[in-house]
Amino acid sequence: MSLEGKVAIVTGSGRGLGLAYAQELARQGAAVVVNDVDENTATAAAASITDNGGRATAVVAPVGSTETAEQLVQAAVEAYGRLDILVTNAGVLRDKVLWKMNDDDFDTVVNVHLRGTFTCVRAAAAYMRENEIAGRIICIGSPAGQRGNFGQTNYSGVKAAIVGMVRTWSMELRKAGITANAVIPVAATAMTATMPYFAAAVEAEQKGEAMPPFFRHDLGFGTADDVAGLVAYLASDAAAGVTGQAIGVGGDRLQVWSHPEPVFSAYREGGWSVAALDEAFGDIIDAHRQSVGETFPPLPDELQR
Ligand SMILES: NC(=O)c1ccc[n+]([C@@H]2O[C@H](COP(=O)([O-])OP(=O)(O)OC[C@H]3O[C@@H](n4cnc5c(N)ncnc54)[C@H](O)[C@@H]3O)[C@@H](O)[C@H]2O)c1
Repeated sequence: MSLEGKVAIVTGSGRGLGLAYAQELARQGAAVVVNDVDENTATAAAASITDNGGRATAVVAPVGSTETAEQLVQAAVEAYGRLDILVTNAGVLRDKVLWKMNDDDFDTVVNVHLRGTFTCVRAAAAYMRENEIAGRIICIGSPAGQRGNFGQTNYSGVKAAIVGMVRTWSMELRKAGITANAVIPVAATAMTATMPYFAAAVEAEQKGEAMPPFFRHDLGFGTADDVAGLVAYLASDAAAGVTGQAIGVGGDRLQVWSHPEPVFSAYREGGWSVAALDEAFGDIIDAHRQSVGETFPPLPDELQR
């Protein structure tokens, strides 16, 4: 498997997971357009690739607008002559419980994640279709989007929506040979470093030690590099037949997420009036009630911090 001759854009790749994706794509042979809002991290990220013999260029611009999306595609074409791979990874958090979340908290997260994914994929797909390139679109979701998460109205909303868009794009782009998949990562980065539950894992990583197996195996929580292999694989020719999927990865764990399906259907001639529901609904929902959120097992004593 090689990405030699291919050109990739990774949004928000100055640090964290995006940086790991950009570095792995470059290691596999792709030329990479690194992007971030932060100039120092963006140029350092590109340098970390070129210093190791890879090809990379940095575009400092905030993902969200159509202008930035077009600027990124143009940068790939100007620097390397084409575009094969887009990874929409740029992200921010503005966590607050619903009744404390203000419009700005909501709009900021919608703009970067949802609008940023939409505008970048639209620009990349238009270029790929026009140039008959069987490209790869890889969008980043989150367990919070798959299952909901306390304090993350904005974030869980956009991450669920991203997977919804990916399903639609996999249908719309199939004829052009372009695949669209979602990756659902879990990793120790600035985003997760402050969560007390993961303190022992983050501490091990900072010391350059292997993370305890409880995190890597039981929780599927590892380093950013643990996620990068899947992104590079989905970007390759080997994954030409994979589209419309949501694949989770973290630590030692790889997961195929289901797409929502009705788990039970009940029929009543004439339809479901309030009276009919009043009679039957309690038993139906008791037998088929769905869970929300992610539940973590209790931390073993030796990993308590
Ligand atoms: N860390 C995890 O466990 C985890 C889990 C699920 C999903 N994710 C998702 O993975 C992605 C990367 O997360 P991370 O943990 O590496 O976070 P991070 O905060 O370390 O990195 C995000 C990067 O995006 C950049 N960025 C922010 N707004 C931008 C914009 N408008 N345009 C361009 N760049 C912008 C930031 O400057 C930063 O470098 C995000 O989409 C996040 O939601 C992360």
